[in-house]
Amino acid sequence: MICDYEGSDYRTRFWENADRAYEDAAERVALAHLLPPRGARVAEFGAGFGRLADLYTGYDEVILLDYSRSLLQEAMQKWGSDPRFKFVAADIYHLPLAPGILSAATMIRVIHHIADVPAALAQIRRAIAPGGAFVLEFANKRNLKAMLRYLVRRQTWNPYAPEPVEFVALNFDFHPKWMLAALRAAGFDVRAKRSASYLRADFFKRVLPLAAMVRIDAALQPTAALTLLSPSVFVQSVAIGQWENAPSQRVPPGSEAIFRSPRSGQPLRREDDALICDADGTRWYAHGNFYDFKEPI
Ligand SMILES: C[S@@+](CC[C@H](N)C(=O)[O-])C[C@H]1O[C@@H](n2cnc3c(N)ncnc32)[C@H](O)[C@@H]1O
Repeated sequence: MICDYEGSDYRTRFWENADRAYEDAAERVALAHLLPPRGARVAEFGAGFGRLADLYTGYDEVILLDYSRSLLQEAMQKWGSDPRFKFVAADIYHLPLAPGILSAATMIRVIHHIADVPAALAQIRRAIAPGGAFVLEFANKRNLKAMLRYLVRRQTWNPYAPEPVEFVALNFDFHPKWMLAALRAAGFDVRAKRSASYLRADFFKRVLPLAAMVRIDAALQPTAALTLLSPSVFVQSVAIGQWENAPSQRVPPGSEAIFRSPRSGQPLRREDDALICDADGTRWYAHGNFYDFKEPI
C-alpha cells in the first residue's frame, strides 16, 4: 500500500498557503547539521517537489526519488536544468538502484506513510555504500502534546507503547525506541539525533517572530541526546557492511549504470527513450534526466 501523492497540491496546500515556515526552517537546521555537506552521490527518498534540494548542492550527483510523477515535475521546474540532478519516479519498496551507489541519503516526512518499515529500510540500506550517511526524519508518537492529551484522556492511543500508531490510514507515528531499533536491524549504526519542531503550535506562531522560533528550535535540537519528546525527530546513521559489496559506488556522476530493474535487480541498457533489462524483459521510460520506474512501458 502506497500513500499516493500523484496530482496532489501538496506544495501549495501544505507549505506555501499554510503557516509552516517555522517547520520548514527547523527541518533545514536539523538536516544541515546531520547531512555531510559534500560528497559523491546523494538521494532523497520521497523528495516530493524538491523542497529541500538546495541542501544537496554540495554533492556531485543528486537523485530526487518519489512515487509521484507530478511532484517530480514540480521539482524539475526548479532543478531540471542543473546537470547534477536526476528525477526518479519509483517506489521505495522496489528501488531501481544498484547496491552501494549512494554516499549519502535522506528521507524526510515520508516514513510516516510507510506501513512496512523494515522492508523500506532494507531497500535504502542496500543502496547506500558502507560508511555512507542516512538522515531519517520520523514523526514521534511520544511527544509532549500526545503525552498531555493522553493524560487528560483526549487521546485513546498510548504514546508510551512501542508499536507504531496508525492515526489515519497510511499515517503512522513511531516510538523513538522502536524506530532506532528498526534502523539498527536494517544495518545502520545510529550516530546522532536532533529534536525538531518543539514549538509546532498556533500559540507560539502567534506570539513569537519566525526568526526567534527558529533560534529557539536550533538551541533545543541537541537535547535529543538526553530525551526525545519533540513531534519530529531527525536521526543520522551510517550504513554498516563490507566495501566489497558496494563496488558500484565508483560509478561516475551522470552514468546510468547506477540503475537496476526494480523487478529483478539486474542491469539495464539504454535504447532511445528506454532503459531495458535483458534479464527480466522489462523496459522503463527514460528521457533527459527523468526516469520512470513505476510501471514498465
Ligand atoms: C509528506 S510528503 C514529503 C515530501 C518531502 N520529503 C518534503 O519533506 O517536502 C511525502 C512524500 O513521500 C512520497 N512517498 C510516499 N510513499 C512512497 C513510496 N512508497 N515510494 C516513493 N515515494 C513515496 C510521496 O509521493 C510524497 O511526495
